[in-house]
Amino acid sequence: MTRILVTGAAGYIGSHTCVALLNAGYDVVGVDNFINSSSSVYKSIESITGKRMRIFDIDCRTDFDVPEKVDAIIHFAALKSVGDSVAFPVKYYDNNVLSTVKVMDVANRHRAPVVFSSSACVYGDKTLRPVTESNNLCPINPYGETKMIGEQIIRNISNRLGLNYANLRYFNPIGSHASGLLGDISTTNLMPHIIKGATGGCLQVFGDDYQTSDGYCVRDYVHVEDIADAHVKTVEYVLSNGSIDAMNLGTGYGTSVVELINLFEQANLKKVNYEVVGRRDGDAPVLVADVKLMKETLGFSCDRTLLNACESSYKFYGANQCK
Ligand code: UD1
Repeated sequence: MTRILVTGAAGYIGSHTCVALLNAGYDVVGVDNFINSSSSVYKSIESITGKRMRIFDIDCRTDFDVPEKVDAIIHFAALKSVGDSVAFPVKYYDNNVLSTVKVMDVANRHRAPVVFSSSACVYGDKTLRPVTESNNLCPINPYGETKMIGEQIIRNISNRLGLNYANLRYFNPIGSHASGLLGDISTTNLMPHIIKGATGGCLQVFGDDYQTSDGYCVRDYVHVEDIADAHVKTVEYVLSNGSIDAMNLGTGYGTSVVELINLFEQANLKKVNYEVVGRRDGDAPVLVADVKLMKETLGFSCDRTLLNACESSYKFYGANQCK
């Protein structure tokens, strides 16, 4: 059976990808140091799939390995809070850059292609619309810088070693597994704040004077289960076809902050309490993916609906409240 090593396997996108890989018939070995996640996630993965995966408590900055030969690696393990990265740049470079070098060492030993978890934030705030992979890279915070450098590490070392690779640039992943057992526990992105606005708090909407159709920022929100499925397709590609130098993962459609709030209200029949405040520093007015390359390369498109993403996010929140 083809075996995939997943770093950051207990994280938001990592855990959904483990489910997709197990369901597609792969053997999965996970590593995580649980700095921003919990080992209980593995129980959820097993209960969703009815399959077991081997797990190791490992910090990817160390010289590490796993006992069995792996055929491909997906490298998610990283710190991902933009604000935190501005406050603690050394921590971000230490964690995100060093771990990527160490993962390439594992890739070399196993002769395994690597799929790297990059981000649309490598484009910065000056982007063409929709943004293609050839857009200039000019990240505006240390988190984005470490992703840009990570892509270079993966590309340069893989080319030297004669290994296939893929750099995947996610736009705005949202939603949870349909079971409500897996989801995003971070508090920095929009969806957790929408849920706060629906459950007694107040969401702050950053700016209503952008040059967009309704004045609010527009993003390409993409269902996390579609992102997970795209990883399965990408693993198949790097195992059989070749490398993908850099590829956007998104829907190709833009949704404004208030449009997403309206969808959440519709999906969950809950009112979201919000107030408009000033713009947030560094927010691009519009960030939407050009997904031509993804469709052509993988023969895949991210088709799950935002209504579904809003419903599953709230289900995950409800399930977590009951714990
Ligand atoms: C963020 C990261 C980006 C990362 C992406 C996906 C920042 C600056 N960038 O993108 O690097 O790749 O997540 O994880 O954090 N908003 C509000 N109120 C809130 C929170 C957000 O109005 O309380 C708005 C923002 O202005 C933005 C949109 O919602 O227009 C999405 O914000 P967010 O979820 O933080 O994602 P991005 O900033 O697009």
